[in-house]
Amino acid sequence: MTDQLRDGRLHHLLTLEGLPRPLLERLLERADALRPDALHGRAARGMLAGRTVVNLFFEPSTRTRTSFELAARRLGADVVNFDAGLSSTRKGETLGDTLRTLEAMGVDAFVVRHAADSALAELAAQAAGRTRLVNAGAGKRDHPTQGLLDMLTLRQCKGTDFSRLRVAIVGDIRHSRVARSDLHALRTLGTGEIRVCAPRALLPEPAELAGCERVERVDDAVAGVDAVMLLRLQRERMEDGLVPSLDAYFRDYGLTPERLALAAPDAVVLHPGPMNRGVEIADAVADGPQSLVLQQVSNGVAVRMAVLEALLG
Ligand code: NCD
Repeated sequence: MTDQLRDGRLHHLLTLEGLPRPLLERLLERADALRPDALHGRAARGMLAGRTVVNLFFEPSTRTRTSFELAARRLGADVVNFDAGLSSTRKGETLGDTLRTLEAMGVDAFVVRHAADSALAELAAQAAGRTRLVNAGAGKRDHPTQGLLDMLTLRQCKGTDFSRLRVAIVGDIRHSRVARSDLHALRTLGTGEIRVCAPRALLPEPAELAGCERVERVDDAVAGVDAVMLLRLQRERMEDGLVPSLDAYFRDYGLTPERLALAAPDAVVLHPGPMNRGVEIADAVADGPQSLVLQQVSNGVAVRMAVLEALLG
């Protein structure tokens, strides 16, 4: 992918793959410091005054789009939400022409979500020198701000030394950009043990699981871990028939209170949302005391502020 670093600084945020550890940790520390402002819209206002951020979303989003919008506003930027469904994309305009059109209106940064794995690389190859790009989820490959907010959430609960952490990633890894970004970040931070567990049809290529231990049964995967990271079944990216039935999936892979009891007593549960209750996760776990789902959402605003500040500040 087009280089996202210029002179050692972040120019775009396209992927967590290969992002140097000091840079990743600096973003997490800054996000942690911004957390009070992120949630109450105080102090940080003004940092990006006069800058314009466009949210360019070609796929649905609740958390990511809203939190990017709040993050940009809380830094004082002007924000435009581009609705792909009402745009000239429908008339056949290419991604590159859409980019240049908005650049010509003085947009400084584009936050982009797209169904194609390569969308951000394509845009980066065509963007003007002053334009900044942030990947808000591309195809199956990258969702860097989700990876960052997941790491921030883990750090807040488990401390900064990831070498002591045992983490299980359970679910549809094959179609998940969240899993790929989490894996890049967990490896970069030196996580002690990363277990992955999914039906065979939902596992990625073995090369993508370097450094992970593949575990067949979910009970074995969660046994003794400090964190369980669940993933949504990405039915929109799946050929039919990969999963026999949702009931069977829940029976074999769903996280129930009984299964969670096999993890460490203070284990935490993460899910990027949107959750399929009764498919990946039981209600009692989703709403239970070990669930960090809403803390992840709150951290999303802080992480996106830190990223926009690093790119535009
Ligand atoms: C994720 C996404 O869109 O990749 N959602 C999110 O950004 N919180 C995960 C998903 O859709 O399952």
